[in-house]
Amino acid sequence: MSVTRSVLVGSGSYLPEKIVTNEDLTKIVDTSDEWIRQRTGISQRHVAADGEFTSHLGYKAAVDALQNAGLDAQDIDLIICATATPDNTFPATAVAIQNMLGIHHGAAFDMQAVCSGFIFALTTADMYIRCGKAKNALVIGAETFTRILDFKDRTTCVLFGDGAGAVVVQAQEGEGDTSDRGILTTHLRSDGQHKDKLYVDGGPSTTQTAGHLRMEGKEVFKHAVGMISDVITDAFDATGLSAEDLDWFVPHQANQRIIDSSAKKLHIAPEKIVSTVSMHGNTSAASIPLALNVAVKDGRIKRGDIVLLEAMGGGFTWGSILLRW
Ligand code: UT7
Repeated sequence: MSVTRSVLVGSGSYLPEKIVTNEDLTKIVDTSDEWIRQRTGISQRHVAADGEFTSHLGYKAAVDALQNAGLDAQDIDLIICATATPDNTFPATAVAIQNMLGIHHGAAFDMQAVCSGFIFALTTADMYIRCGKAKNALVIGAETFTRILDFKDRTTCVLFGDGAGAVVVQAQEGEGDTSDRGILTTHLRSDGQHKDKLYVDGGPSTTQTAGHLRMEGKEVFKHAVGMISDVITDAFDATGLSAEDLDWFVPHQANQRIIDSSAKKLHIAPEKIVSTVSMHGNTSAASIPLALNVAVKDGRIKRGDIVLLEAMGGGFTWGSILLRW
């Protein structure tokens, strides 16, 4: 049976020039390189320059992805930008990126699911494509999380960084089985009873300020592995594929310990994990497309490979996508 599949035909990314090491952070808060590495696996993060906004990072990642796909910006008829750190409360950062790309047709909007944002955005693009509502979608994860950090709070300010990643997703015909290229299954979940465990203490309707990130790290950690495992099990059940069938596991990059524990629980071999947390820190919605692009550009992820994406974050929100590259 012929079906429409959302095939990832290009990937790109952009990281701001400035790098802040763990050592640099010891001059700002009472922390140590050893603590940050041991507890999180992070050794450095990129930080956006003054005047460099989320839309600028997202635009550069989008241009890189379009080039990698061999497509012109005018081919794009849908842009979804996953971000929790938009340039402005409105309009959407996606619209700013659309304008920078010189696109004045189709639809562009933001997706807000914090660290799971890219999974939610790519799932939404998949729905548009499979319904015949879009042919070539640009899905971007772009964040400037360092702008919402409280640099007096050592429990959060050492964890996050800035950056953007993007993919181009194209409608192509498939057979309707797991031999198809493209997105094979998607699974999204949310549970707002956890909304106060990871949040920003500001906003237009409450304080009229942007606010700062607050997190009960231990609580988030406690739920993360179970939630991640649940949606990955859903992906395996839906496709009949298993951990052995995976070529690459590209998780949200929050903490190496969470990544390793989830992989272990699901019997995913350590050599299949794509990890960039050490170099990028947690870049929220940008972390998966950033990691994906590293592995695509260094030749690890090849056409036909089975790739598993997953994320968990504020809300809580969590989700998985299983695809053939
Ligand atoms: O992307 C969205 C999802 N977010 C996450 O996945 C984050 C999930 N949480 C985590 O990754 C971890 O919980 C953290 C990395 C945030 C913290 O690691 P932990 O092993 O849970 O440490 P903890 O919060 O239990 O803190 C242990 C100790 C505390 O000291 P006491 O109370 O034992 O004396 C903290 O005050 O470490 C202290 N501590 C620090 N020490 C040095 C907390 N932050 C720091 C720091 N430097 N930056």
